[in-house]
Amino acid sequence: MNEDEKKLTTELKAAFAAQYGDEEGVRLFFAPGRVNLIGEHTDYNGGHVFPCALSIGTYAAARKRDDRKIRLFSMNGKSDSFEEFDLDDLEPAGKSGWTMYPLGVVWTFGLRGMLPETGFEMAIYGNIPNGSGLSSSASLEVLTGFVLKNLYGFDVDGVELAKIGQYSENNYNGMKCGIMDQFASAMGKKDHAIFLDTADLTYEYAPVKLDGMKLVIANSRVKHQLTDSGYNDRRRTCEEALEDLKKVTGISALGELTPEKYEELKGAIRDDDHRRKAKHAVYENDRTIRAIKALKAGDIEGFGKLMNESHVSLRDDYDVSCPEVDVLAETAWTIPGVMGARITGGGFGGCTVAIVRDESIERYIEVLGRTYKEKTGLEAEFYTVTPGDGPAEL
Ligand code: GLA
Repeated sequence: MNEDEKKLTTELKAAFAAQYGDEEGVRLFFAPGRVNLIGEHTDYNGGHVFPCALSIGTYAAARKRDDRKIRLFSMNGKSDSFEEFDLDDLEPAGKSGWTMYPLGVVWTFGLRGMLPETGFEMAIYGNIPNGSGLSSSASLEVLTGFVLKNLYGFDVDGVELAKIGQYSENNYNGMKCGIMDQFASAMGKKDHAIFLDTADLTYEYAPVKLDGMKLVIANSRVKHQLTDSGYNDRRRTCEEALEDLKKVTGISALGELTPEKYEELKGAIRDDDHRRKAKHAVYENDRTIRAIKALKAGDIEGFGKLMNESHVSLRDDYDVSCPEVDVLAETAWTIPGVMGARITGGGFGGCTVAIVRDESIERYIEVLGRTYKEKTGLEAEFYTVTPGDGPAEL
């Protein structure tokens, strides 16, 4: 544990003791957030993604109880962020708020024959800004799964934790996300990104060797209302486009099409808007496959160009960017030393990720922060990050 983590976990334990009486037998856990380097809105289309875990995420202090109560407390919330539930009443109806994430995971464990034999109490603290597109929710889901695995000795590996998190978010929270975020959190590896084929969950760790450069995240600090509804809407649009294509070809996912094949068949998609969305899914998948080749060949310039193209496609074809995030990406492209920059995550606000030369980072942050303020009146936030490991007991 580094100094920051020591301080943070000491505070978390103190908050746990204040809430639950004492800290006897308490155990500490962590699960990371993620940043996606490229491959956006491809994971529910059977395409490829290329995310990495971060060293920021969500921390938990947890212990079993003797009764059937589940007691949850968040240090991020206000004083009313404590809630109590019953292990025998986990159905989603009537529940709301942040506790839906951990409860949904307990519920999913139950559906899979792993309902804990007793309740538990948990205090959490997250250092990922909410709604930033860096997967604070997936980190909380993976964290909860990891806590259950360790407190009750359940036999679940990282891939299973990711699947449980996704299932829970889809069916408990009603957010029809793909598997990327939970997979990146559960399977993260220090200094590596994960090249994941969401069609069959085969994956490969690729070293993120950025000699003389770093990943810099810029947070627009805006979160537009559309996040969940817009996301589910995009997913439905892709499914409808796929249905049209299935009438003329034997595919089961948009990720199976090359750009050439898409161009040949696109006339089968009846609606112009649907065609643009499908185009993004197909071309973004192709960009992601080309991006990992570029990274392996040490061609960071090529990788950066693909990041820029990804942003344009998400902005113009997939319609998931927003004016604030466009200012961040488009300004970044004009700053010397920037290899590439794009919106990351589900969209409708959130962050950009850029690859920036070490000697240019200070100027990047200064110019981008100033321009963003001038154009939007808002203060951006910046984080220089390196890929981190998956969940851990501390
Ligand atoms: C959100 C979802 C992911 C993925 C991204 C877009 O983060 O949770 O499954 O679809 O959006 O790439």
